[in-house]
Amino acid sequence: MRILSIDTSCDETSVAVTSGLSIESNVVSSQVRYHKKYGGVVPFLAQRLHTERIDSVVDLAIERSGSTEKDMQAVAVTYGPGLAPALQVGIAKAQALAAELKIPLYTVDHMIGHICSAWPEKKELALPALAILVSGGHTEFVLMKTFGNFEIVGKTLDDALGEAYDKAAIMLGLGYPGGKALATLATSGDPEHFPLPVPMAKNAGYDLSYSGLKTAVRYLLRDLHDNGVELDAVVTADIAASFEYSAQTALCKKIERILRDHPEIASVLVAGGVAANAELRKRIRMVAKTARDLPVFFPRSLKLCGDNAAMIGFAAYLGIQAGQKPVLAEKLDRVPYLLVSDYGK
Ligand code: KG4
Ligand code: ZN
Repeated sequence: MRILSIDTSCDETSVAVTSGLSIESNVVSSQVRYHKKYGGVVPFLAQRLHTERIDSVVDLAIERSGSTEKDMQAVAVTYGPGLAPALQVGIAKAQALAAELKIPLYTVDHMIGHICSAWPEKKELALPALAILVSGGHTEFVLMKTFGNFEIVGKTLDDALGEAYDKAAIMLGLGYPGGKALATLATSGDPEHFPLPVPMAKNAGYDLSYSGLKTAVRYLLRDLHDNGVELDAVVTADIAASFEYSAQTALCKKIERILRDHPEIASVLVAGGVAANAELRKRIRMVAKTARDLPVFFPRSLKLCGDNAAMIGFAAYLGIQAGQKPVLAEKLDRVPYLLVSDYGK
């Protein structure tokens, strides 16, 4: 089934054409340079930019797929979670397309989309699987017994991992969103030079917290400043490496614990913007190998780690295979605080 999918949940206007788990086109029009100066995404600016771009992004995705509008067999759209004014633009366009082309409309949870971005294209995924979602807005551990049965077993109680990277990056003068720049800098730093606390390491359960680590970086910078230490390239790289080491250790300790307590888990998926991080990939592979040699799947390209619509097409396809029904276009509404555990309810 050829699906035209749309995601406007945050600051990327994205439209894709997919067939099963294969991508025919995946256009991502980023607004990041407009939000940069505000140090975060401004919802109504995002809405305006999505509105300006959505028609041309749809046309481009269809053109790049080598098909025509008439070849589309279904429309899929993100209806949550995300910024309400931004979600609205994609929903309205999806409703119009489904009516005009007389094809069914399917709704997709953006986070289930991220999970599906790591779904192996050519292998069978052994279930139950643990999905580790690490994006700028979410950090969640999702236990997936089957496609459609999603249970959040742990999550961050405050900042998401990507958000923590971005906040630390701003403090280090790396701009916004600075996760990638911080990760690059960390590769040349010494993580033991300025040891930082590993948040929630001693707490029971699988929840995480990243706001304390952010505060620890702030205090470290203040102390260095008070002691007249110059924030040169070497010092900045050491702080970046320490931050990354603590942030990832916190995540990996919880993953270890989940895998130990859930011997039924047969594979691991890692998705979201921070899944692009090479060091994190290495560490999660190691944890899964040490636990019981579990297969670990990541999105097959870096583009699939960040927000994109192809993953929404994948989720719709897997959902339809699992029995998901289309929605009545005129009844569709956004759900900004949607949870993966709401699937099918
Ligand atoms: O999934 P995503 O594109 O958007 C959300 O839905 O949030 O994730 C974006 C987040 C940003 O916080 C960005 O700084 C972070 O992913 N990120 C990284 C890397 N690449 C992107 N964080 C750490 N290392 C990276 N290589
Ligand atoms: Zn996302």
